[in-house]
Amino acid sequence: MKSNLLMALLLLSVSSVYAGDAENGEQLYKEVALERTIRGEQYTDANCETCHESAFYQREDRKVTSYSKLESMVEGCNTNLDVGWFPEDVSDVAKYLNREYYKFK
Ligand code: HEC
Repeated sequence: MKSNLLMALLLLSVSSVYAGDAENGEQLYKEVALERTIRGEQYTDANCETCHESAFYQREDRKVTSYSKLESMVEGCNTNLDVGWFPEDVSDVAKYLNREYYKFK
């Protein structure tokens, strides 16, 4: 089960090397499925929105104030949660979140 998940993440990551865009980022973002305990609850399919709904990215006091901060926050959650995204994937997801919510130039 767990290794299937890792395999799927690996394949996703590998395929992104050839894509590199917000579309790919959207797909990565939506396909995250983490085995993890969050707020005392055990999940096998937690995703980014288990912790923060999309409104979180648009709140007034968000920490992200530039595109490079956005990328580093995505990288932070990627690393903390062992999502397994490669740097290209993190860039794609940042592009996607920027297109949808942040709208930095
Ligand atoms: C276990 C809970 C959890 C999960 C799951 C999670 N995050 Fe986060 N995320 C956080 C926390 C906590 C913060 C706020 C950190 C801070 O304020 O310093 C955060 C902040 C962020 C921010 C900055 C938001 C802002 O504008 O202030 C982004 C972007 C982000 N996460 C992306 C992601 C992505 C992409 C995923 C899916 C791979 C993800 N996160 C999954 C806990 C989580």
